[in-house]
Order: sequence, then structure tokens, then C-alpha cells
Amino acid sequence: RIAGPSGLVIFGVTGDLSRKKLMPAVYDLANRGLLPPGFSLVGFARRDWEQEDFAQVVHDAVRDHARTPFREEVWQQLAEGFRFVPGEFGDDEAFDTLRTTIEELDKARGTGGNFAFYLSVPPKFFPTVVRQLKKHGLSEGRDGSWRRAVIEKPFGHDLASAQDLNQVVHEVFPANEVFRIDHYLGKETVQNILALRFANTMFEPLWNRSYVDHVQITMAEDIGIGGRAGYYDGIGAARDVIQNHLLQLLALTAMEEPVAFDADSLVTEKLKVLRSVKIPADLGAHTVRGQYTHGWQGGEEVCGYLEEEGIDPNSGTDTYAAIKLEIDNRRWAGVPFYLRTGKRLGRRVTEIAVVFQRAPYSPFDTTDTQELGQNALVIRVQPDEGVTVRFGSKVPGTSMEVRDVSMDFAYGESFTESSPEAYERLILDVLLGDANLFPRHQEVEESWRILDPIEDHWERHGSPEPYTAGTWGPAAADEMLARDGRSWRRP
Ligand code: BG6
Repeated sequence: RIAGPSGLVIFGVTGDLSRKKLMPAVYDLANRGLLPPGFSLVGFARRDWEQEDFAQVVHDAVRDHARTPFREEVWQQLAEGFRFVPGEFGDDEAFDTLRTTIEELDKARGTGGNFAFYLSVPPKFFPTVVRQLKKHGLSEGRDGSWRRAVIEKPFGHDLASAQDLNQVVHEVFPANEVFRIDHYLGKETVQNILALRFANTMFEPLWNRSYVDHVQITMAEDIGIGGRAGYYDGIGAARDVIQNHLLQLLALTAMEEPVAFDADSLVTEKLKVLRSVKIPADLGAHTVRGQYTHGWQGGEEVCGYLEEEGIDPNSGTDTYAAIKLEIDNRRWAGVPFYLRTGKRLGRRVTEIAVVFQRAPYSPFDTTDTQELGQNALVIRVQPDEGVTVRFGSKVPGTSMEVRDVSMDFAYGESFTESSPEAYERLILDVLLGDANLFPRHQEVEESWRILDPIEDHWERHGSPEPYTAGTWGPAAADEMLARDGRSWRRP
């Protein structure tokens, strides 16, 4: 799969995402031979840069963050297609310059009029940028060429703002030319959820309420909010990652088999699950939010959230969130899905654990109850990518004692192929017009439907529970599961 003639325009090219992810991804794609020879990259930002400055910024970004080795000939060919357009988003002249730049690239580099516009800008600028693209004749391709919009989250702050945003974007771009980035869908291990479930026969028969006791989806981070105070404060953990990444993981874990592996079939099944998600009636008992306080992490002393630079010292923003959801359908009725995420937790790990019911009784010696848990299938999303199956096994010796053991599949051991970075995969898919790994607007809105009442509840009731940095979150989250007779896994 190699992209055809095309180019990419990045709005907000001076931002962190662009430097750490987008520019390196473009280079890596070029280096892997997946971009057309005339591929062009246009940066648009409010900076007084000359063309050389832009090239230097891309160069530094590639040097610091690219995955593949630097190759001069690849760089040279790519760099010939770099252009920088300085300007404000509301500036008509700048958008005219953008249009002539694209026309020039079509002639000089053979981009064929095919351009994707990547909005790596705060959402408040989305309406201005998309309307400017329309006004300046940039949003529609001519003579069979395409124009696409790529949007970064957050897709709104709640359901109403997400609907407004979708409306504005769809006034300008048809739905099939809008690509919403959820970079978790670009991760190999996340795509493997569907392969695991639907390319095999041995898992799916058990994948339902008759055998599954509950599911735990964990996205734990060891980092704090770093330099992202401006974005994070007032948003919090649930809006930042549950609304998108974790609900997408839930949808992929719980959905029915799609009719085909194409965008329409996938969205149909994901939407059905999201629509079936039941919001707990007693939100106080089934949700927990937390905020990290000063502590130790990896041998280093770290400050609390309220002491972070740029954070309102009275902030009630959650840096941890745990939610119990249920899915009202025939496959899952009564099976809780516990979702949790947090910053400054014990370690960085994302996993989906499908925990099975206990054997109805045991004829064996299970006095060693501390060791014997429930069967579980754990999809290790990161960092130690793979799948683990936990089951009981006889302990060697003269008695019939049973203890938990693991069977592991590790990507690094089973495959020699390297995984592309999520953004590499997603940018390539945008250029190919392949929408399989992009959430549609209905999914985004459905996810807000789930989160809105929870956020509302939190806003009206108290403040986040403190937890010490470097631990596994507030005690209330453990209590939430203990009330159900369960406990969180310690990954
Ligand atoms: C982003 C969130 O979407 O995902 C960040 O905004 C978070 O807060 C990041 O740190 C985590 O991504 P990854 O790929 O490192 O798990």
C-alpha cells in the first residue's frame, strides 16, 4: 500500500504534536518508500519563518523523533517538497498564498491536486480554518482530485459542542473526506483485537456473558501533565482519554463481527455497542475521579497536580478516572466493563483484561488462594505488546495443588517486522482514503452521550480524591471494585 500523488498541509505546524509525531511520521513513511516521489509537506503557522527555517524545524523534528535511520537521499527528495505559509487562521491573504502554493506544487511536484489538511490546532480554531478553506476554494478537489480534513481531538467538550463542531466541518467537507484521529486505533495491538477475535475460533465462543465475569480496560501513565497545563486543566482524564481511546477499546472488545473489514461495517458494529452502553444509575458508587498529589516516581520526587506549572491551585480537574459501564445486549448484559486511566500511576501500561468466571467448583486443593485467580486473557496494548492468557496449573509435587500461570505471546518474539508508529499508519491511511481506523462523528457523539452525565455528576458532587503520585490511584477506586467482590489487576 503506497500513497498516490499527494501532499499534506499542517495547520499548527509549530506545535508539539507536529514536531514529535507528524513530521517524523512523514519522514518515516518516505523512508519506508510508502510516499510518492513528489510528496509535499506544507506548514501553515503564525510565525515569521523563511522557507529554510521551516526545513530546519522539520529536520530537527526528524532527527529527534523519527523511528527510522536518517538517510540523506530520502531527506533531500522530501525536503524539495517543503513549503511554509506564514499567517493567522483568519488571514485571507495567507489562504490565497496557500492556494497558489498548492497549485505550484501540483505543477512542480506532481501532487495532482490531492491534499489533506491536518488541523493540529486547538478546537476553537476548527471553524475558522475549515471555513477559510472553503472560502478560498481549497476544500474541493477538481477533475477527480481529493481534498480531506484531518482533525485532532478533542472533538468537543461535551455532546453539544461535538455536534456543533461536526456540523461546521460537514458544511465544508463531505463525511467520507473527514478523518478524525484517535491515535490508539493506529496502534498495532489495538488493530490486533479484531484479528484475535475474528481470525480465530478459540476465543469467540467464550467471549460473552456465559463465560466472562468482567472486563478491565486500563490506560495508566507514569507521566504527569508536563507542559500541557493549558490543554489539560479543565479537561481532565475522562475527557482526555476515556471519551476517545478507552471507549474505542471497549467498542472493539465488545462489538459483533463486522460484515467486512471496511469502514462502514466497522462503524456499524462499533456504534451498536456504544449505543448499548448503559450509564450506571448510581454514578456516585460506580465512578471515581482522582487527582495526584506530591510523591515519588521511579526514584524521583514529583510534585502534585496543583503544584504543576500553569495549573490553577484550586483546580478540580481529574487526573484519574474509573468508571463502571455495562452493555445492554444479549452478549454482554450483566457483565461490567471497568475503565480506568490516570496520570502519575505506578507505571505506564495499557491493557484490556477479559476476566473469566471461576470454575463452578474445584475438586483440587486450592488452599493457596492468594495465587489462584480467575482465568484471564490480557491484551497488552503497551508497552510490552502482546497477549497473555492466565490459567491454573498443577504445581509440581506430590499434592494436587493448583496455581496461576501465564502463557505469553510477545510481538517482539513472534514477528521480525517492526510496527509503524500510530501516526505513520494513520497519515498513510488518510492519503490512501482508507477510513477503517478513524472514528466517525456518530461514534464521537455516542461517546459524549456516555461521558456527559458522568462529568455532570462530578461537577455537582465534591472534588477529586487525592492519590499519591506513583501509586495506583485513589482508594475509592479499589473500594468501587471491592463492592462488586472484585479487584483491579496490578499490571
Ligand atoms: C493523548 C492524551 O491522546 O494520549 C495524552 O491527550 C496521553 O494525555 C496520550 O498522554 C497517551 O498516548 P500514548 O500513545 O503514549 O499512550
